[in-house]
Amino acid sequence: MNFSAELINWYNDNKRDLPWRKTTDAYVIWLSEIILQQTRVEQGMPYFYRFAEKYPTVTAFAAAAEDEILRLWQGLGYYSRGRNMLKTARLVVEKYDGTFPVKYTDLIQLTGIGEYTAAAISSFSANEARAVVDGNVYRVLARYFGIDEPINSPKGKKMFQQIADDMLDRHRPATHNQAMMEFGAMLCKPKNPACGICPVRTGCVAFKTNATTHLPVKLKT
Ligand code: ADE
Repeated sequence: MNFSAELINWYNDNKRDLPWRKTTDAYVIWLSEIILQQTRVEQGMPYFYRFAEKYPTVTAFAAAAEDEILRLWQGLGYYSRGRNMLKTARLVVEKYDGTFPVKYTDLIQLTGIGEYTAAAISSFSANEARAVVDGNVYRVLARYFGIDEPINSPKGKKMFQQIADDMLDRHRPATHNQAMMEFGAMLCKPKNPACGICPVRTGCVAFKTNATTHLPVKLKT
């Protein structure tokens, strides 16, 4: 079995039950991904429910007043996220008639949506073959392949995106992406990774060379 197939098997047996994984609604996925950008899952969860309940559609979100959004956002920090969301929601209503875009090339143009978020929304909502690269993915790839190129150097970013694209299971990009992130979050953790129960440890360079604590490498900025 290849790397992706192993991770997907692991994921199917071990994944957390998270609400945003039960939908293909690009608007709802967008809500979850923006909330989770600088926020842990446990902290973001109640906010996700509040927003999704109060604004079930992007049109409802776009009609909200800014101070209402920012009030609901209270406690999450990085308030520019909330402001950008309103801007984006209003543009989606105007330009796309309230249908949230699902194509990477459309999503990447929207305020507050970068490469990671565009890949996440397009793969989760429409199974577009785009590999997500977030902190979890950097860690998993750096360790498995033993890559010590800094993840935040221009060369490193390119290199990791390329490897992530090469590894992507093009028949099931959504599941592949969720599996990579879940594996990084739950098993290949920053500290004390669970190598003892890891399904891909026999192929993992960091495991074989005892280098998990040194990888990934990140330059101080
Ligand atoms: N963090 C960011 N996106 C996530 C997702 N889709 N599932 C779990 N954690 C996440």
